[in-house]
Amino acid sequence: MQKLIINGGKRLRGEITVQGAKNAALPILAASVLCGGEVVLHNCPRLSDVYSAMRILTYLGCGAGFDGTEKNTVTVNTSVLDKYEISDKLMREMRSSIFFLGALVGRTGRCRLSFPGGCDIGRRPIDIHISALRKMGVTVNEEYGCIDCLCENRLKGAKIPLSFPSVGATENIILAAVLAEGTTEITNAAREPEIACLAEFLNRCGADIRGAGSSTVVINGVSSLHGCEFEIMPDRIAAATYLACTAAAGGEIIVKGCVPRHLDAVNAVFEQSGCSVHCTEDSVFFGALKPLKAVDIIRTMVYPGFPTDCQAFVMAALCRGEGTSVFVENIFENRYSHTEELRRMGADIRTEGKVAVVTGVKRLYGAKISAPDLRGGAGLAAAALSAEGTSEISGVCHIDRGYEDIEGVLSSLGADIRRI
Ligand code: EPZ
Repeated sequence: MQKLIINGGKRLRGEITVQGAKNAALPILAASVLCGGEVVLHNCPRLSDVYSAMRILTYLGCGAGFDGTEKNTVTVNTSVLDKYEISDKLMREMRSSIFFLGALVGRTGRCRLSFPGGCDIGRRPIDIHISALRKMGVTVNEEYGCIDCLCENRLKGAKIPLSFPSVGATENIILAAVLAEGTTEITNAAREPEIACLAEFLNRCGADIRGAGSSTVVINGVSSLHGCEFEIMPDRIAAATYLACTAAAGGEIIVKGCVPRHLDAVNAVFEQSGCSVHCTEDSVFFGALKPLKAVDIIRTMVYPGFPTDCQAFVMAALCRGEGTSVFVENIFENRYSHTEELRRMGADIRTEGKVAVVTGVKRLYGAKISAPDLRGGAGLAAAALSAEGTSEISGVCHIDRGYEDIEGVLSSLGADIRRI
């Protein structure tokens, strides 16, 4: 089991270019199943979740791999697809394998897979996904932990109001609808930028999707799709992570190659805490040159609100804020596992249900801590950068699911961090 060793107390300085977005790459890799040809994806991050998605594609009979020359270019060829089911082992590797449900049903009319594992942050039901597929004419049997989908004829377009603007459900419906007969209209759709990125990819492959990124998405089914070449959007959560690391440790950095407006809600919180934020077309100039102030209340919300994925590492930065910050986690029911580890470092955090009360302390102390999940692990890294002394973070495999070379990026900003 690998660990990160961080000697805290060093301010960060320098500039980085942010990685491609994990939460765009994963649905797009699944969407390549619908194309029946060759897809070339640039700016694809080298993450364990991306490798898991490529193992699923290979298992289905497709070709998928990183290009030998271009570090972040992936080529996928789905002209051959000789399965419509995904093994339990592969499903358990990554919850996001659920995107293959919509893609496989969309292309073959069949799909059999085990329920995706819940994960550390919550139960992760897929009831919204399943009820949508049933509206499109898919027979879905759920038994013995498996989902078995069958649609004898072509899927039918349908009007699909969502009970909750679920990101994954919105994406899965789009994947199932692009080759369906007729029009599908999703209302109360999720508006995360990764959905617009997925739609842009599919439209470049010949799909007809309008309104992605807004709460009403209309998909006119087409008869077939072709391959394309596409650039994955920048990862807004990874960008926010490195800003939070700087807020925690102090210093000044520039995050390049991002879409600043995707960070509006989290940048507003950084500014409330006293950080300086200046945005250009594709970069954020960020400074944390004085002790942070507490932020009264931070509510996680669906996009464009404050992202739930930013909660852990913004909390880590505010552990030493002057005053008391209150977090309300409205999206997932178990997303405070990192608070126990932060308390080991001297943080003063009390949680009760959705609420976490963070009372700023003068200093945090390096400790042996364990990453409970992907973003919680990133939060521990941010806290370790601001702590006095050495921290040893285990469970780095969680962090590697979403961050490409986190120790390389932080080292380039002057952090004293190494992987063992
Ligand atoms: C996506 O997960 C992201 N993952 C998550 O990022 C992100 O936290 C989440 O959206 C919210 O923004 C990917 O894109 C791969 P949801 P997803 O469906 O699609 C409930 C990360 O750290 N719900 O919008 O699973 C669900 O339980 C990951 O990168 C149902 O009740 O999120 C949750 O409470 C973590 N029934 C809420 O909706 C359903 O059928 C939001 O879930 C589906 C969801």
